[in-house]
Amino acid sequence: MTFSPDLEARFAKLLESYPPGRTRSAVVPMLLYAQDEVGHISHELIEEVARRCKVTPLQVDEVVGYYSMLHKKPQGKVHVQVCTNISCLIDGGEELFQHASKTLGIGNKETTPDGQFSLEEVECIGACSWAPAIQMNYDFHHHVTPEKLDKLIDELRRKQ
Ligand code: FES
Repeated sequence: MTFSPDLEARFAKLLESYPPGRTRSAVVPMLLYAQDEVGHISHELIEEVARRCKVTPLQVDEVVGYYSMLHKKPQGKVHVQVCTNISCLIDGGEELFQHASKTLGIGNKETTPDGQFSLEEVECIGACSWAPAIQMNYDFHHHVTPEKLDKLIDELRRKQ
């Protein structure tokens, strides 16, 4: 697979940071970096990461299956993750997810037809004290209300 020079440099730095025989530790960050550039994790990418980290494609595939932030399907330009785990559930996370679904016109793990947004109901994202919490790409938003969510989505739509 061909990647940008920047990504190749990141891969090289990453692999150098682990001792010989420990390159399997680079699998998750390498997948995340590649996903950011390529958009999703294809079978070809799994094989590429396996080759570079000296593990089997099956081992990489198992990692992809375990972590919810790794996606085999292309995501929207903005990936909206709504937590519905216990703290967020108590504070309206489920209603917030339903509201996001209605506002965006898509269901769980779906992408808008224009490719701008995708939506996912997720487990705890580590922001329980500020529930209900959502994550938009790498940005966290706390104490999110349906009104606040609409405002965030409107702002992002205007920027795109
Ligand atoms: S339960 Fe939602 S952030 Fe932890």
